[in-house]
Amino acid sequence: MKISARQGEVDKISGEALVVSSFEGMESSLIKKLNKVLGNAVGNLIRDNEFSGKFNQISVLHTEGKIPAKRILLIGLGKKEEFYFDRIRQVSAKASLHIREIGVKNFATSLHCQDMKGLSKKEIAQAMVEGTLLGLYKFDKYKTEKEKKNEVEEFTIIYEDGTNEIEEGIRIGKIMADATNFTRDLVNLPANEATPTKLVEVAKELAKRYKLKIRVLERGDMKKAGMSGLLAVSQGSVQPPKFIILEYNAGKKPTMALVGKGITFDSGGISLKPSKDMDKMKTDKAGACAVLGIIKAAAELRLPLAIIGLIPLTENLPSGSAYKPGDIIETYSKKTVEIISTDAEGRIILADALAYAGNYKPTAIMDLATLTGACIIALGDLAIGLLGNDQNLIKKIKGAGEKTWERVWELPLWKEYEEYNKSDVADVKNVGGKSGEAGTITAAAFLRTFVGETPWVHLDIASTALVEREKPYNLKGATGVGVRLIVQLLMDWS
Ligand code: BES
Ligand code: MN
Ligand code: ZN
Repeated sequence: MKISARQGEVDKISGEALVVSSFEGMESSLIKKLNKVLGNAVGNLIRDNEFSGKFNQISVLHTEGKIPAKRILLIGLGKKEEFYFDRIRQVSAKASLHIREIGVKNFATSLHCQDMKGLSKKEIAQAMVEGTLLGLYKFDKYKTEKEKKNEVEEFTIIYEDGTNEIEEGIRIGKIMADATNFTRDLVNLPANEATPTKLVEVAKELAKRYKLKIRVLERGDMKKAGMSGLLAVSQGSVQPPKFIILEYNAGKKPTMALVGKGITFDSGGISLKPSKDMDKMKTDKAGACAVLGIIKAAAELRLPLAIIGLIPLTENLPSGSAYKPGDIIETYSKKTVEIISTDAEGRIILADALAYAGNYKPTAIMDLATLTGACIIALGDLAIGLLGNDQNLIKKIKGAGEKTWERVWELPLWKEYEEYNKSDVADVKNVGGKSGEAGTITAAAFLRTFVGETPWVHLDIASTALVEREKPYNLKGATGVGVRLIVQLLMDWS
């Protein structure tokens, strides 16, 4: 989609549709102006209770040649005292979905919330672009009759002043949304297509396009390196496991290690999951796909730091050769793990990847993983579970969460939780406690065992990577969560 900014007054802009937002019960200077030239058309809608500015309320009126734009789409921002920044993304998505539905191909929007104090034009423009591009996303790769006819082709932001700021906001918003949609596309791919081998191809394409360093460890390399966790989980599958090392700005400081869980299908293995909803486990690679999206955005933004993406990839399947409950594995770090459940496989492959990350002596390690069902129980689809060993880093993530509205919620990671993971026969066991109590925390405590002293955060995205109810700029399916969050964090790093 073509997105641009144009200076001008909204009542002079031509086009098929002009989007104008309004707070509830308030008449902005813009609405007043429109009323003047349109013979009080908006005022009449309000008088007749057809539009009040309630949050996400839409009303369309035809301008009958009184101004160059053919129609005006009014969208409600809700009560001013209930405003929060993400509403800009939300109304942008809502309006553009309506635009698409009525078959309009190009539309203009006046910059939302222009007279609101404390918001920069750059942030507003960025949010408008994010909301629009994320809202219009759909996954129709496998539909044979695509609904091609209704694609929005062009979107223009109309402003009165502040050109450079707005163009910069558009540029960043586009990179953020494109990277998120790139990740969504990957996460939505079914497991028969998105094998570890296929995701390696995707990473190689990124490496070529953005001149990144890439190395892929094959089974033989893993054996040599002692990555027995990843090897064990992959044992039951005919698809070969892969371990991607993708580097952006290799050697620069600071160096961020990003680790993404890449289970391309999680059946549970011998500790087989119930068949209900097992199809959803094709999205168990969301952490891996987020790392790819983050690196893509970082390269496009030319962020002045280094990123090392570490992505262990495998299926988790039962078979005669599969790993089993009771097995004891010596992981990359030499620490041994007793397998209680083969369905707690994410932490096993992450154990190898996190310990491997330490080799780079990174400034920080961040991992993204659809790790625990317990996180869904605890937080629902509104928050990412956040745990870590460094309050400074945790604070930074929380800040980025508020800005991007990929909000995080911290759970405690007290030393005492390690008791739950004590094994009678090995250093640790892969399921803590007796009945899954504090499941998200014991999983994170397990991970911490393999991290060492490097500042580290773990993001449990089990509840947010996939949504089963629609969200403001998320249809059902993959959300690409984590991409905007981490890119924002990296942008704000210095
Ligand atoms: N991939 C799952 C976690 C998950 C569950 C993600 C539902 C998204 C939706 C993970 O590998 C898993 O199976 N975890 C187990 C751990 C348990 C065996 C300790 C779980 O949460 O049930
Ligand atoms: Mn599992
Ligand atoms: Zn899993």
